[in-house]
Amino acid sequence: MGVDAREKLNALALVWNPTVSFVDSFVLKWALDLHIIDIIHSHGKPITLSQLGSSLPVPCGNYENLRRLLRYLIHMKLLTLQEGDLYGLTSASKFILVGDPTNIVPYVRVVQHGVAEKWQILGSLLDAKESTVSSTFEAVNGEDLWSYASKNPDHNKLFNEAMASDARLVTPALIESCREIFEGLSSLVDVGGGTGTASRTVAKAFPHIKCSVLDLPHVVETIPDYPDVERVAGDMFSFIPHNDAVMMMKILHDWDDDDCVKILKKCKEAMPKEGGKVIIVDIVMDIDEGHEITRTRYAFDVLMMLSTGGQERTEKEWRRLVFNAGFSRCEITPINALQSVIVASP
Ligand SMILES: C[S@@+](CC[C@H](N)C(=O)[O-])C[C@H]1O[C@@H](n2cnc3c(N)ncnc32)[C@H](O)[C@@H]1O
Repeated sequence: MGVDAREKLNALALVWNPTVSFVDSFVLKWALDLHIIDIIHSHGKPITLSQLGSSLPVPCGNYENLRRLLRYLIHMKLLTLQEGDLYGLTSASKFILVGDPTNIVPYVRVVQHGVAEKWQILGSLLDAKESTVSSTFEAVNGEDLWSYASKNPDHNKLFNEAMASDARLVTPALIESCREIFEGLSSLVDVGGGTGTASRTVAKAFPHIKCSVLDLPHVVETIPDYPDVERVAGDMFSFIPHNDAVMMMKILHDWDDDDCVKILKKCKEAMPKEGGKVIIVDIVMDIDEGHEITRTRYAFDVLMMLSTGGQERTEKEWRRLVFNAGFSRCEITPINALQSVIVASP
């Protein structure tokens, strides 16, 4: 990445980070409610995940979600992960350790009091995996994000516009860094492509590619009739139209590994063995670690846990997913964006 491009990404992070910074407040509040710091302190030494989970003041049925909360606290430098997967305290922990005379917990509580009702979602976050509810959004609203959007046109519009605003930034970065991915393709379907921002940008940059966008009916019916992009209403779990390539931008992070494997297998069926590819545009959490935008990437993992029951993934997790779905190659490329590009070939 060049100096100018890096500066641009730094500037983008200055907007993204405060946008998602409420995740810091959520996670800090949960750490306090769960007495995580005090439990580790009274243990007298760093503690394992299961020791911590079994000492919480609420039953913990989902250790994976607890691990992700702890990973975020580590990222905030409020905990450390030590050799042997042991969770320990940091120099900042004492300020939220109730037993320490210098703690500022009461101040934290006063500041957070105004938004107390929002924290109630903690209960469903640590529900057992067997729960029929896949996300906190579903627990609070009684249905998942997509079904909710299909019944609430204002929310549908707002959500689709939010997605499009990101696609407007990411797609040019994708094309600039990875032109060669598109060269040689004659057709591409943008699966879960929302209102078509990404597919129209690709169609404009590569007029020889026949582009289409597949999304749920309530999204597709809001797309104006663009001459360069065909609209297909459908469910990606049932049918993906045959094309040289499938693009999926911010799709797989909405789903757990099992569902992702189902979607990827459907993609594989829909493309030629020779030259076919899935162009995944999603966050790779640990790419270019240490960059200003890394916090946002980790914060999005917590947001996905809340909103769809999905997750962001590390490089290793992406490769495992792609190979589990039966693809033989997986190439990961950072681009000048929050997301990276993961190309899976049959
Ligand atoms: C996070 S948005 C991403 C939109 C777009 N790809 C972008 O990057 O701006 C996820 C999209 O997946 C769509 N979606 C969810 N479930 C779907 C399904 N079963 N079949 C097709 N699309 C689906 C949603 O309607 C939504 O437009």
